[in-house]
Amino acid sequence: MSETPQNVYDNPDFFAGYKELRRVESGLNSALEIPALLRMLPSSLAGLRILDLGCGFGDFARLARSRGAGRVTAVDVSRRMLEEARRRTADPEIQYVEASIEDFDATPGSFDLAVSSLAFHYVCDYSAAIGRIFRFLAPGGRLVFSVEHPICTARPEQEWCCSSEGVPLHWPVDRYRDEGVRRTKWFVDNVVKYHRTVETYVNGLVAAGFVLDRLEEPEPSPESIAARPDLERHRRRPPFLLLAAHRN
Ligand SMILES: C[S@@+](CC[C@H](N)C(=O)[O-])C[C@H]1O[C@@H](n2cnc3c(N)ncnc32)[C@H](O)[C@@H]1O
Repeated sequence: MSETPQNVYDNPDFFAGYKELRRVESGLNSALEIPALLRMLPSSLAGLRILDLGCGFGDFARLARSRGAGRVTAVDVSRRMLEEARRRTADPEIQYVEASIEDFDATPGSFDLAVSSLAFHYVCDYSAAIGRIFRFLAPGGRLVFSVEHPICTARPEQEWCCSSEGVPLHWPVDRYRDEGVRRTKWFVDNVVKYHRTVETYVNGLVAAGFVLDRLEEPEPSPESIAARPDLERHRRRPPFLLLAAHRN
């Protein structure tokens, strides 16, 4: 099963909304997802050849280089995101490539670490993508990635069930087993994401030959809730799923 990637980040309205969200950092990336992703990386990035899939504005590529990474190949399907990434980057060891995760190709064994932050839920054929990444990695190479949690992608509405006063009562989950397209509204209508189960995310790694190292469903710390009480609700259901694996 494969489809042309949607590339909604090139939609001007979507791009403007997303850029503003990341500028003010009112989203969950900086509070929850990125700290968890960083915890799951190898203890040293020194000299590593890194592949960043769905690199967005290149934040991770620049961070990896500041931690000693050898070179970073940062791939994204969105020309607008890459234009912004290039504008923010002055480093010849970061190479930006305009390609989809589905179509990007590389020499087998040419990377030590593959990272993907919040992009795989836009990929239709997860197992094919994982199989390709496995081949791009050298023996001992690692893969660390995050996705929106399947508890959140199951229903296209992605909303709390609220009381008439607007108080969140619970997070509804439905059609969990029906994997596939979910059309959601996020800045614009009709944003296509792909829902799959936790089982599929984990077993897809195992089927490709990876050894699973860690699974995380990060929760906000007491300190972050004290600073931002709105984060408390993310202890009621996990917003993100992160997986780390390696190949022998
Ligand atoms: C939520 S953003 C995350 C960006 C970046 N990883 C970060 O954490 O700041 C998702 C990114 O994935 C890219 N993307 C979505 N579908 C893709 C695909 N099929 N192939 C490559 N990139 C994709 C989008 O263009 C966007 O830049």
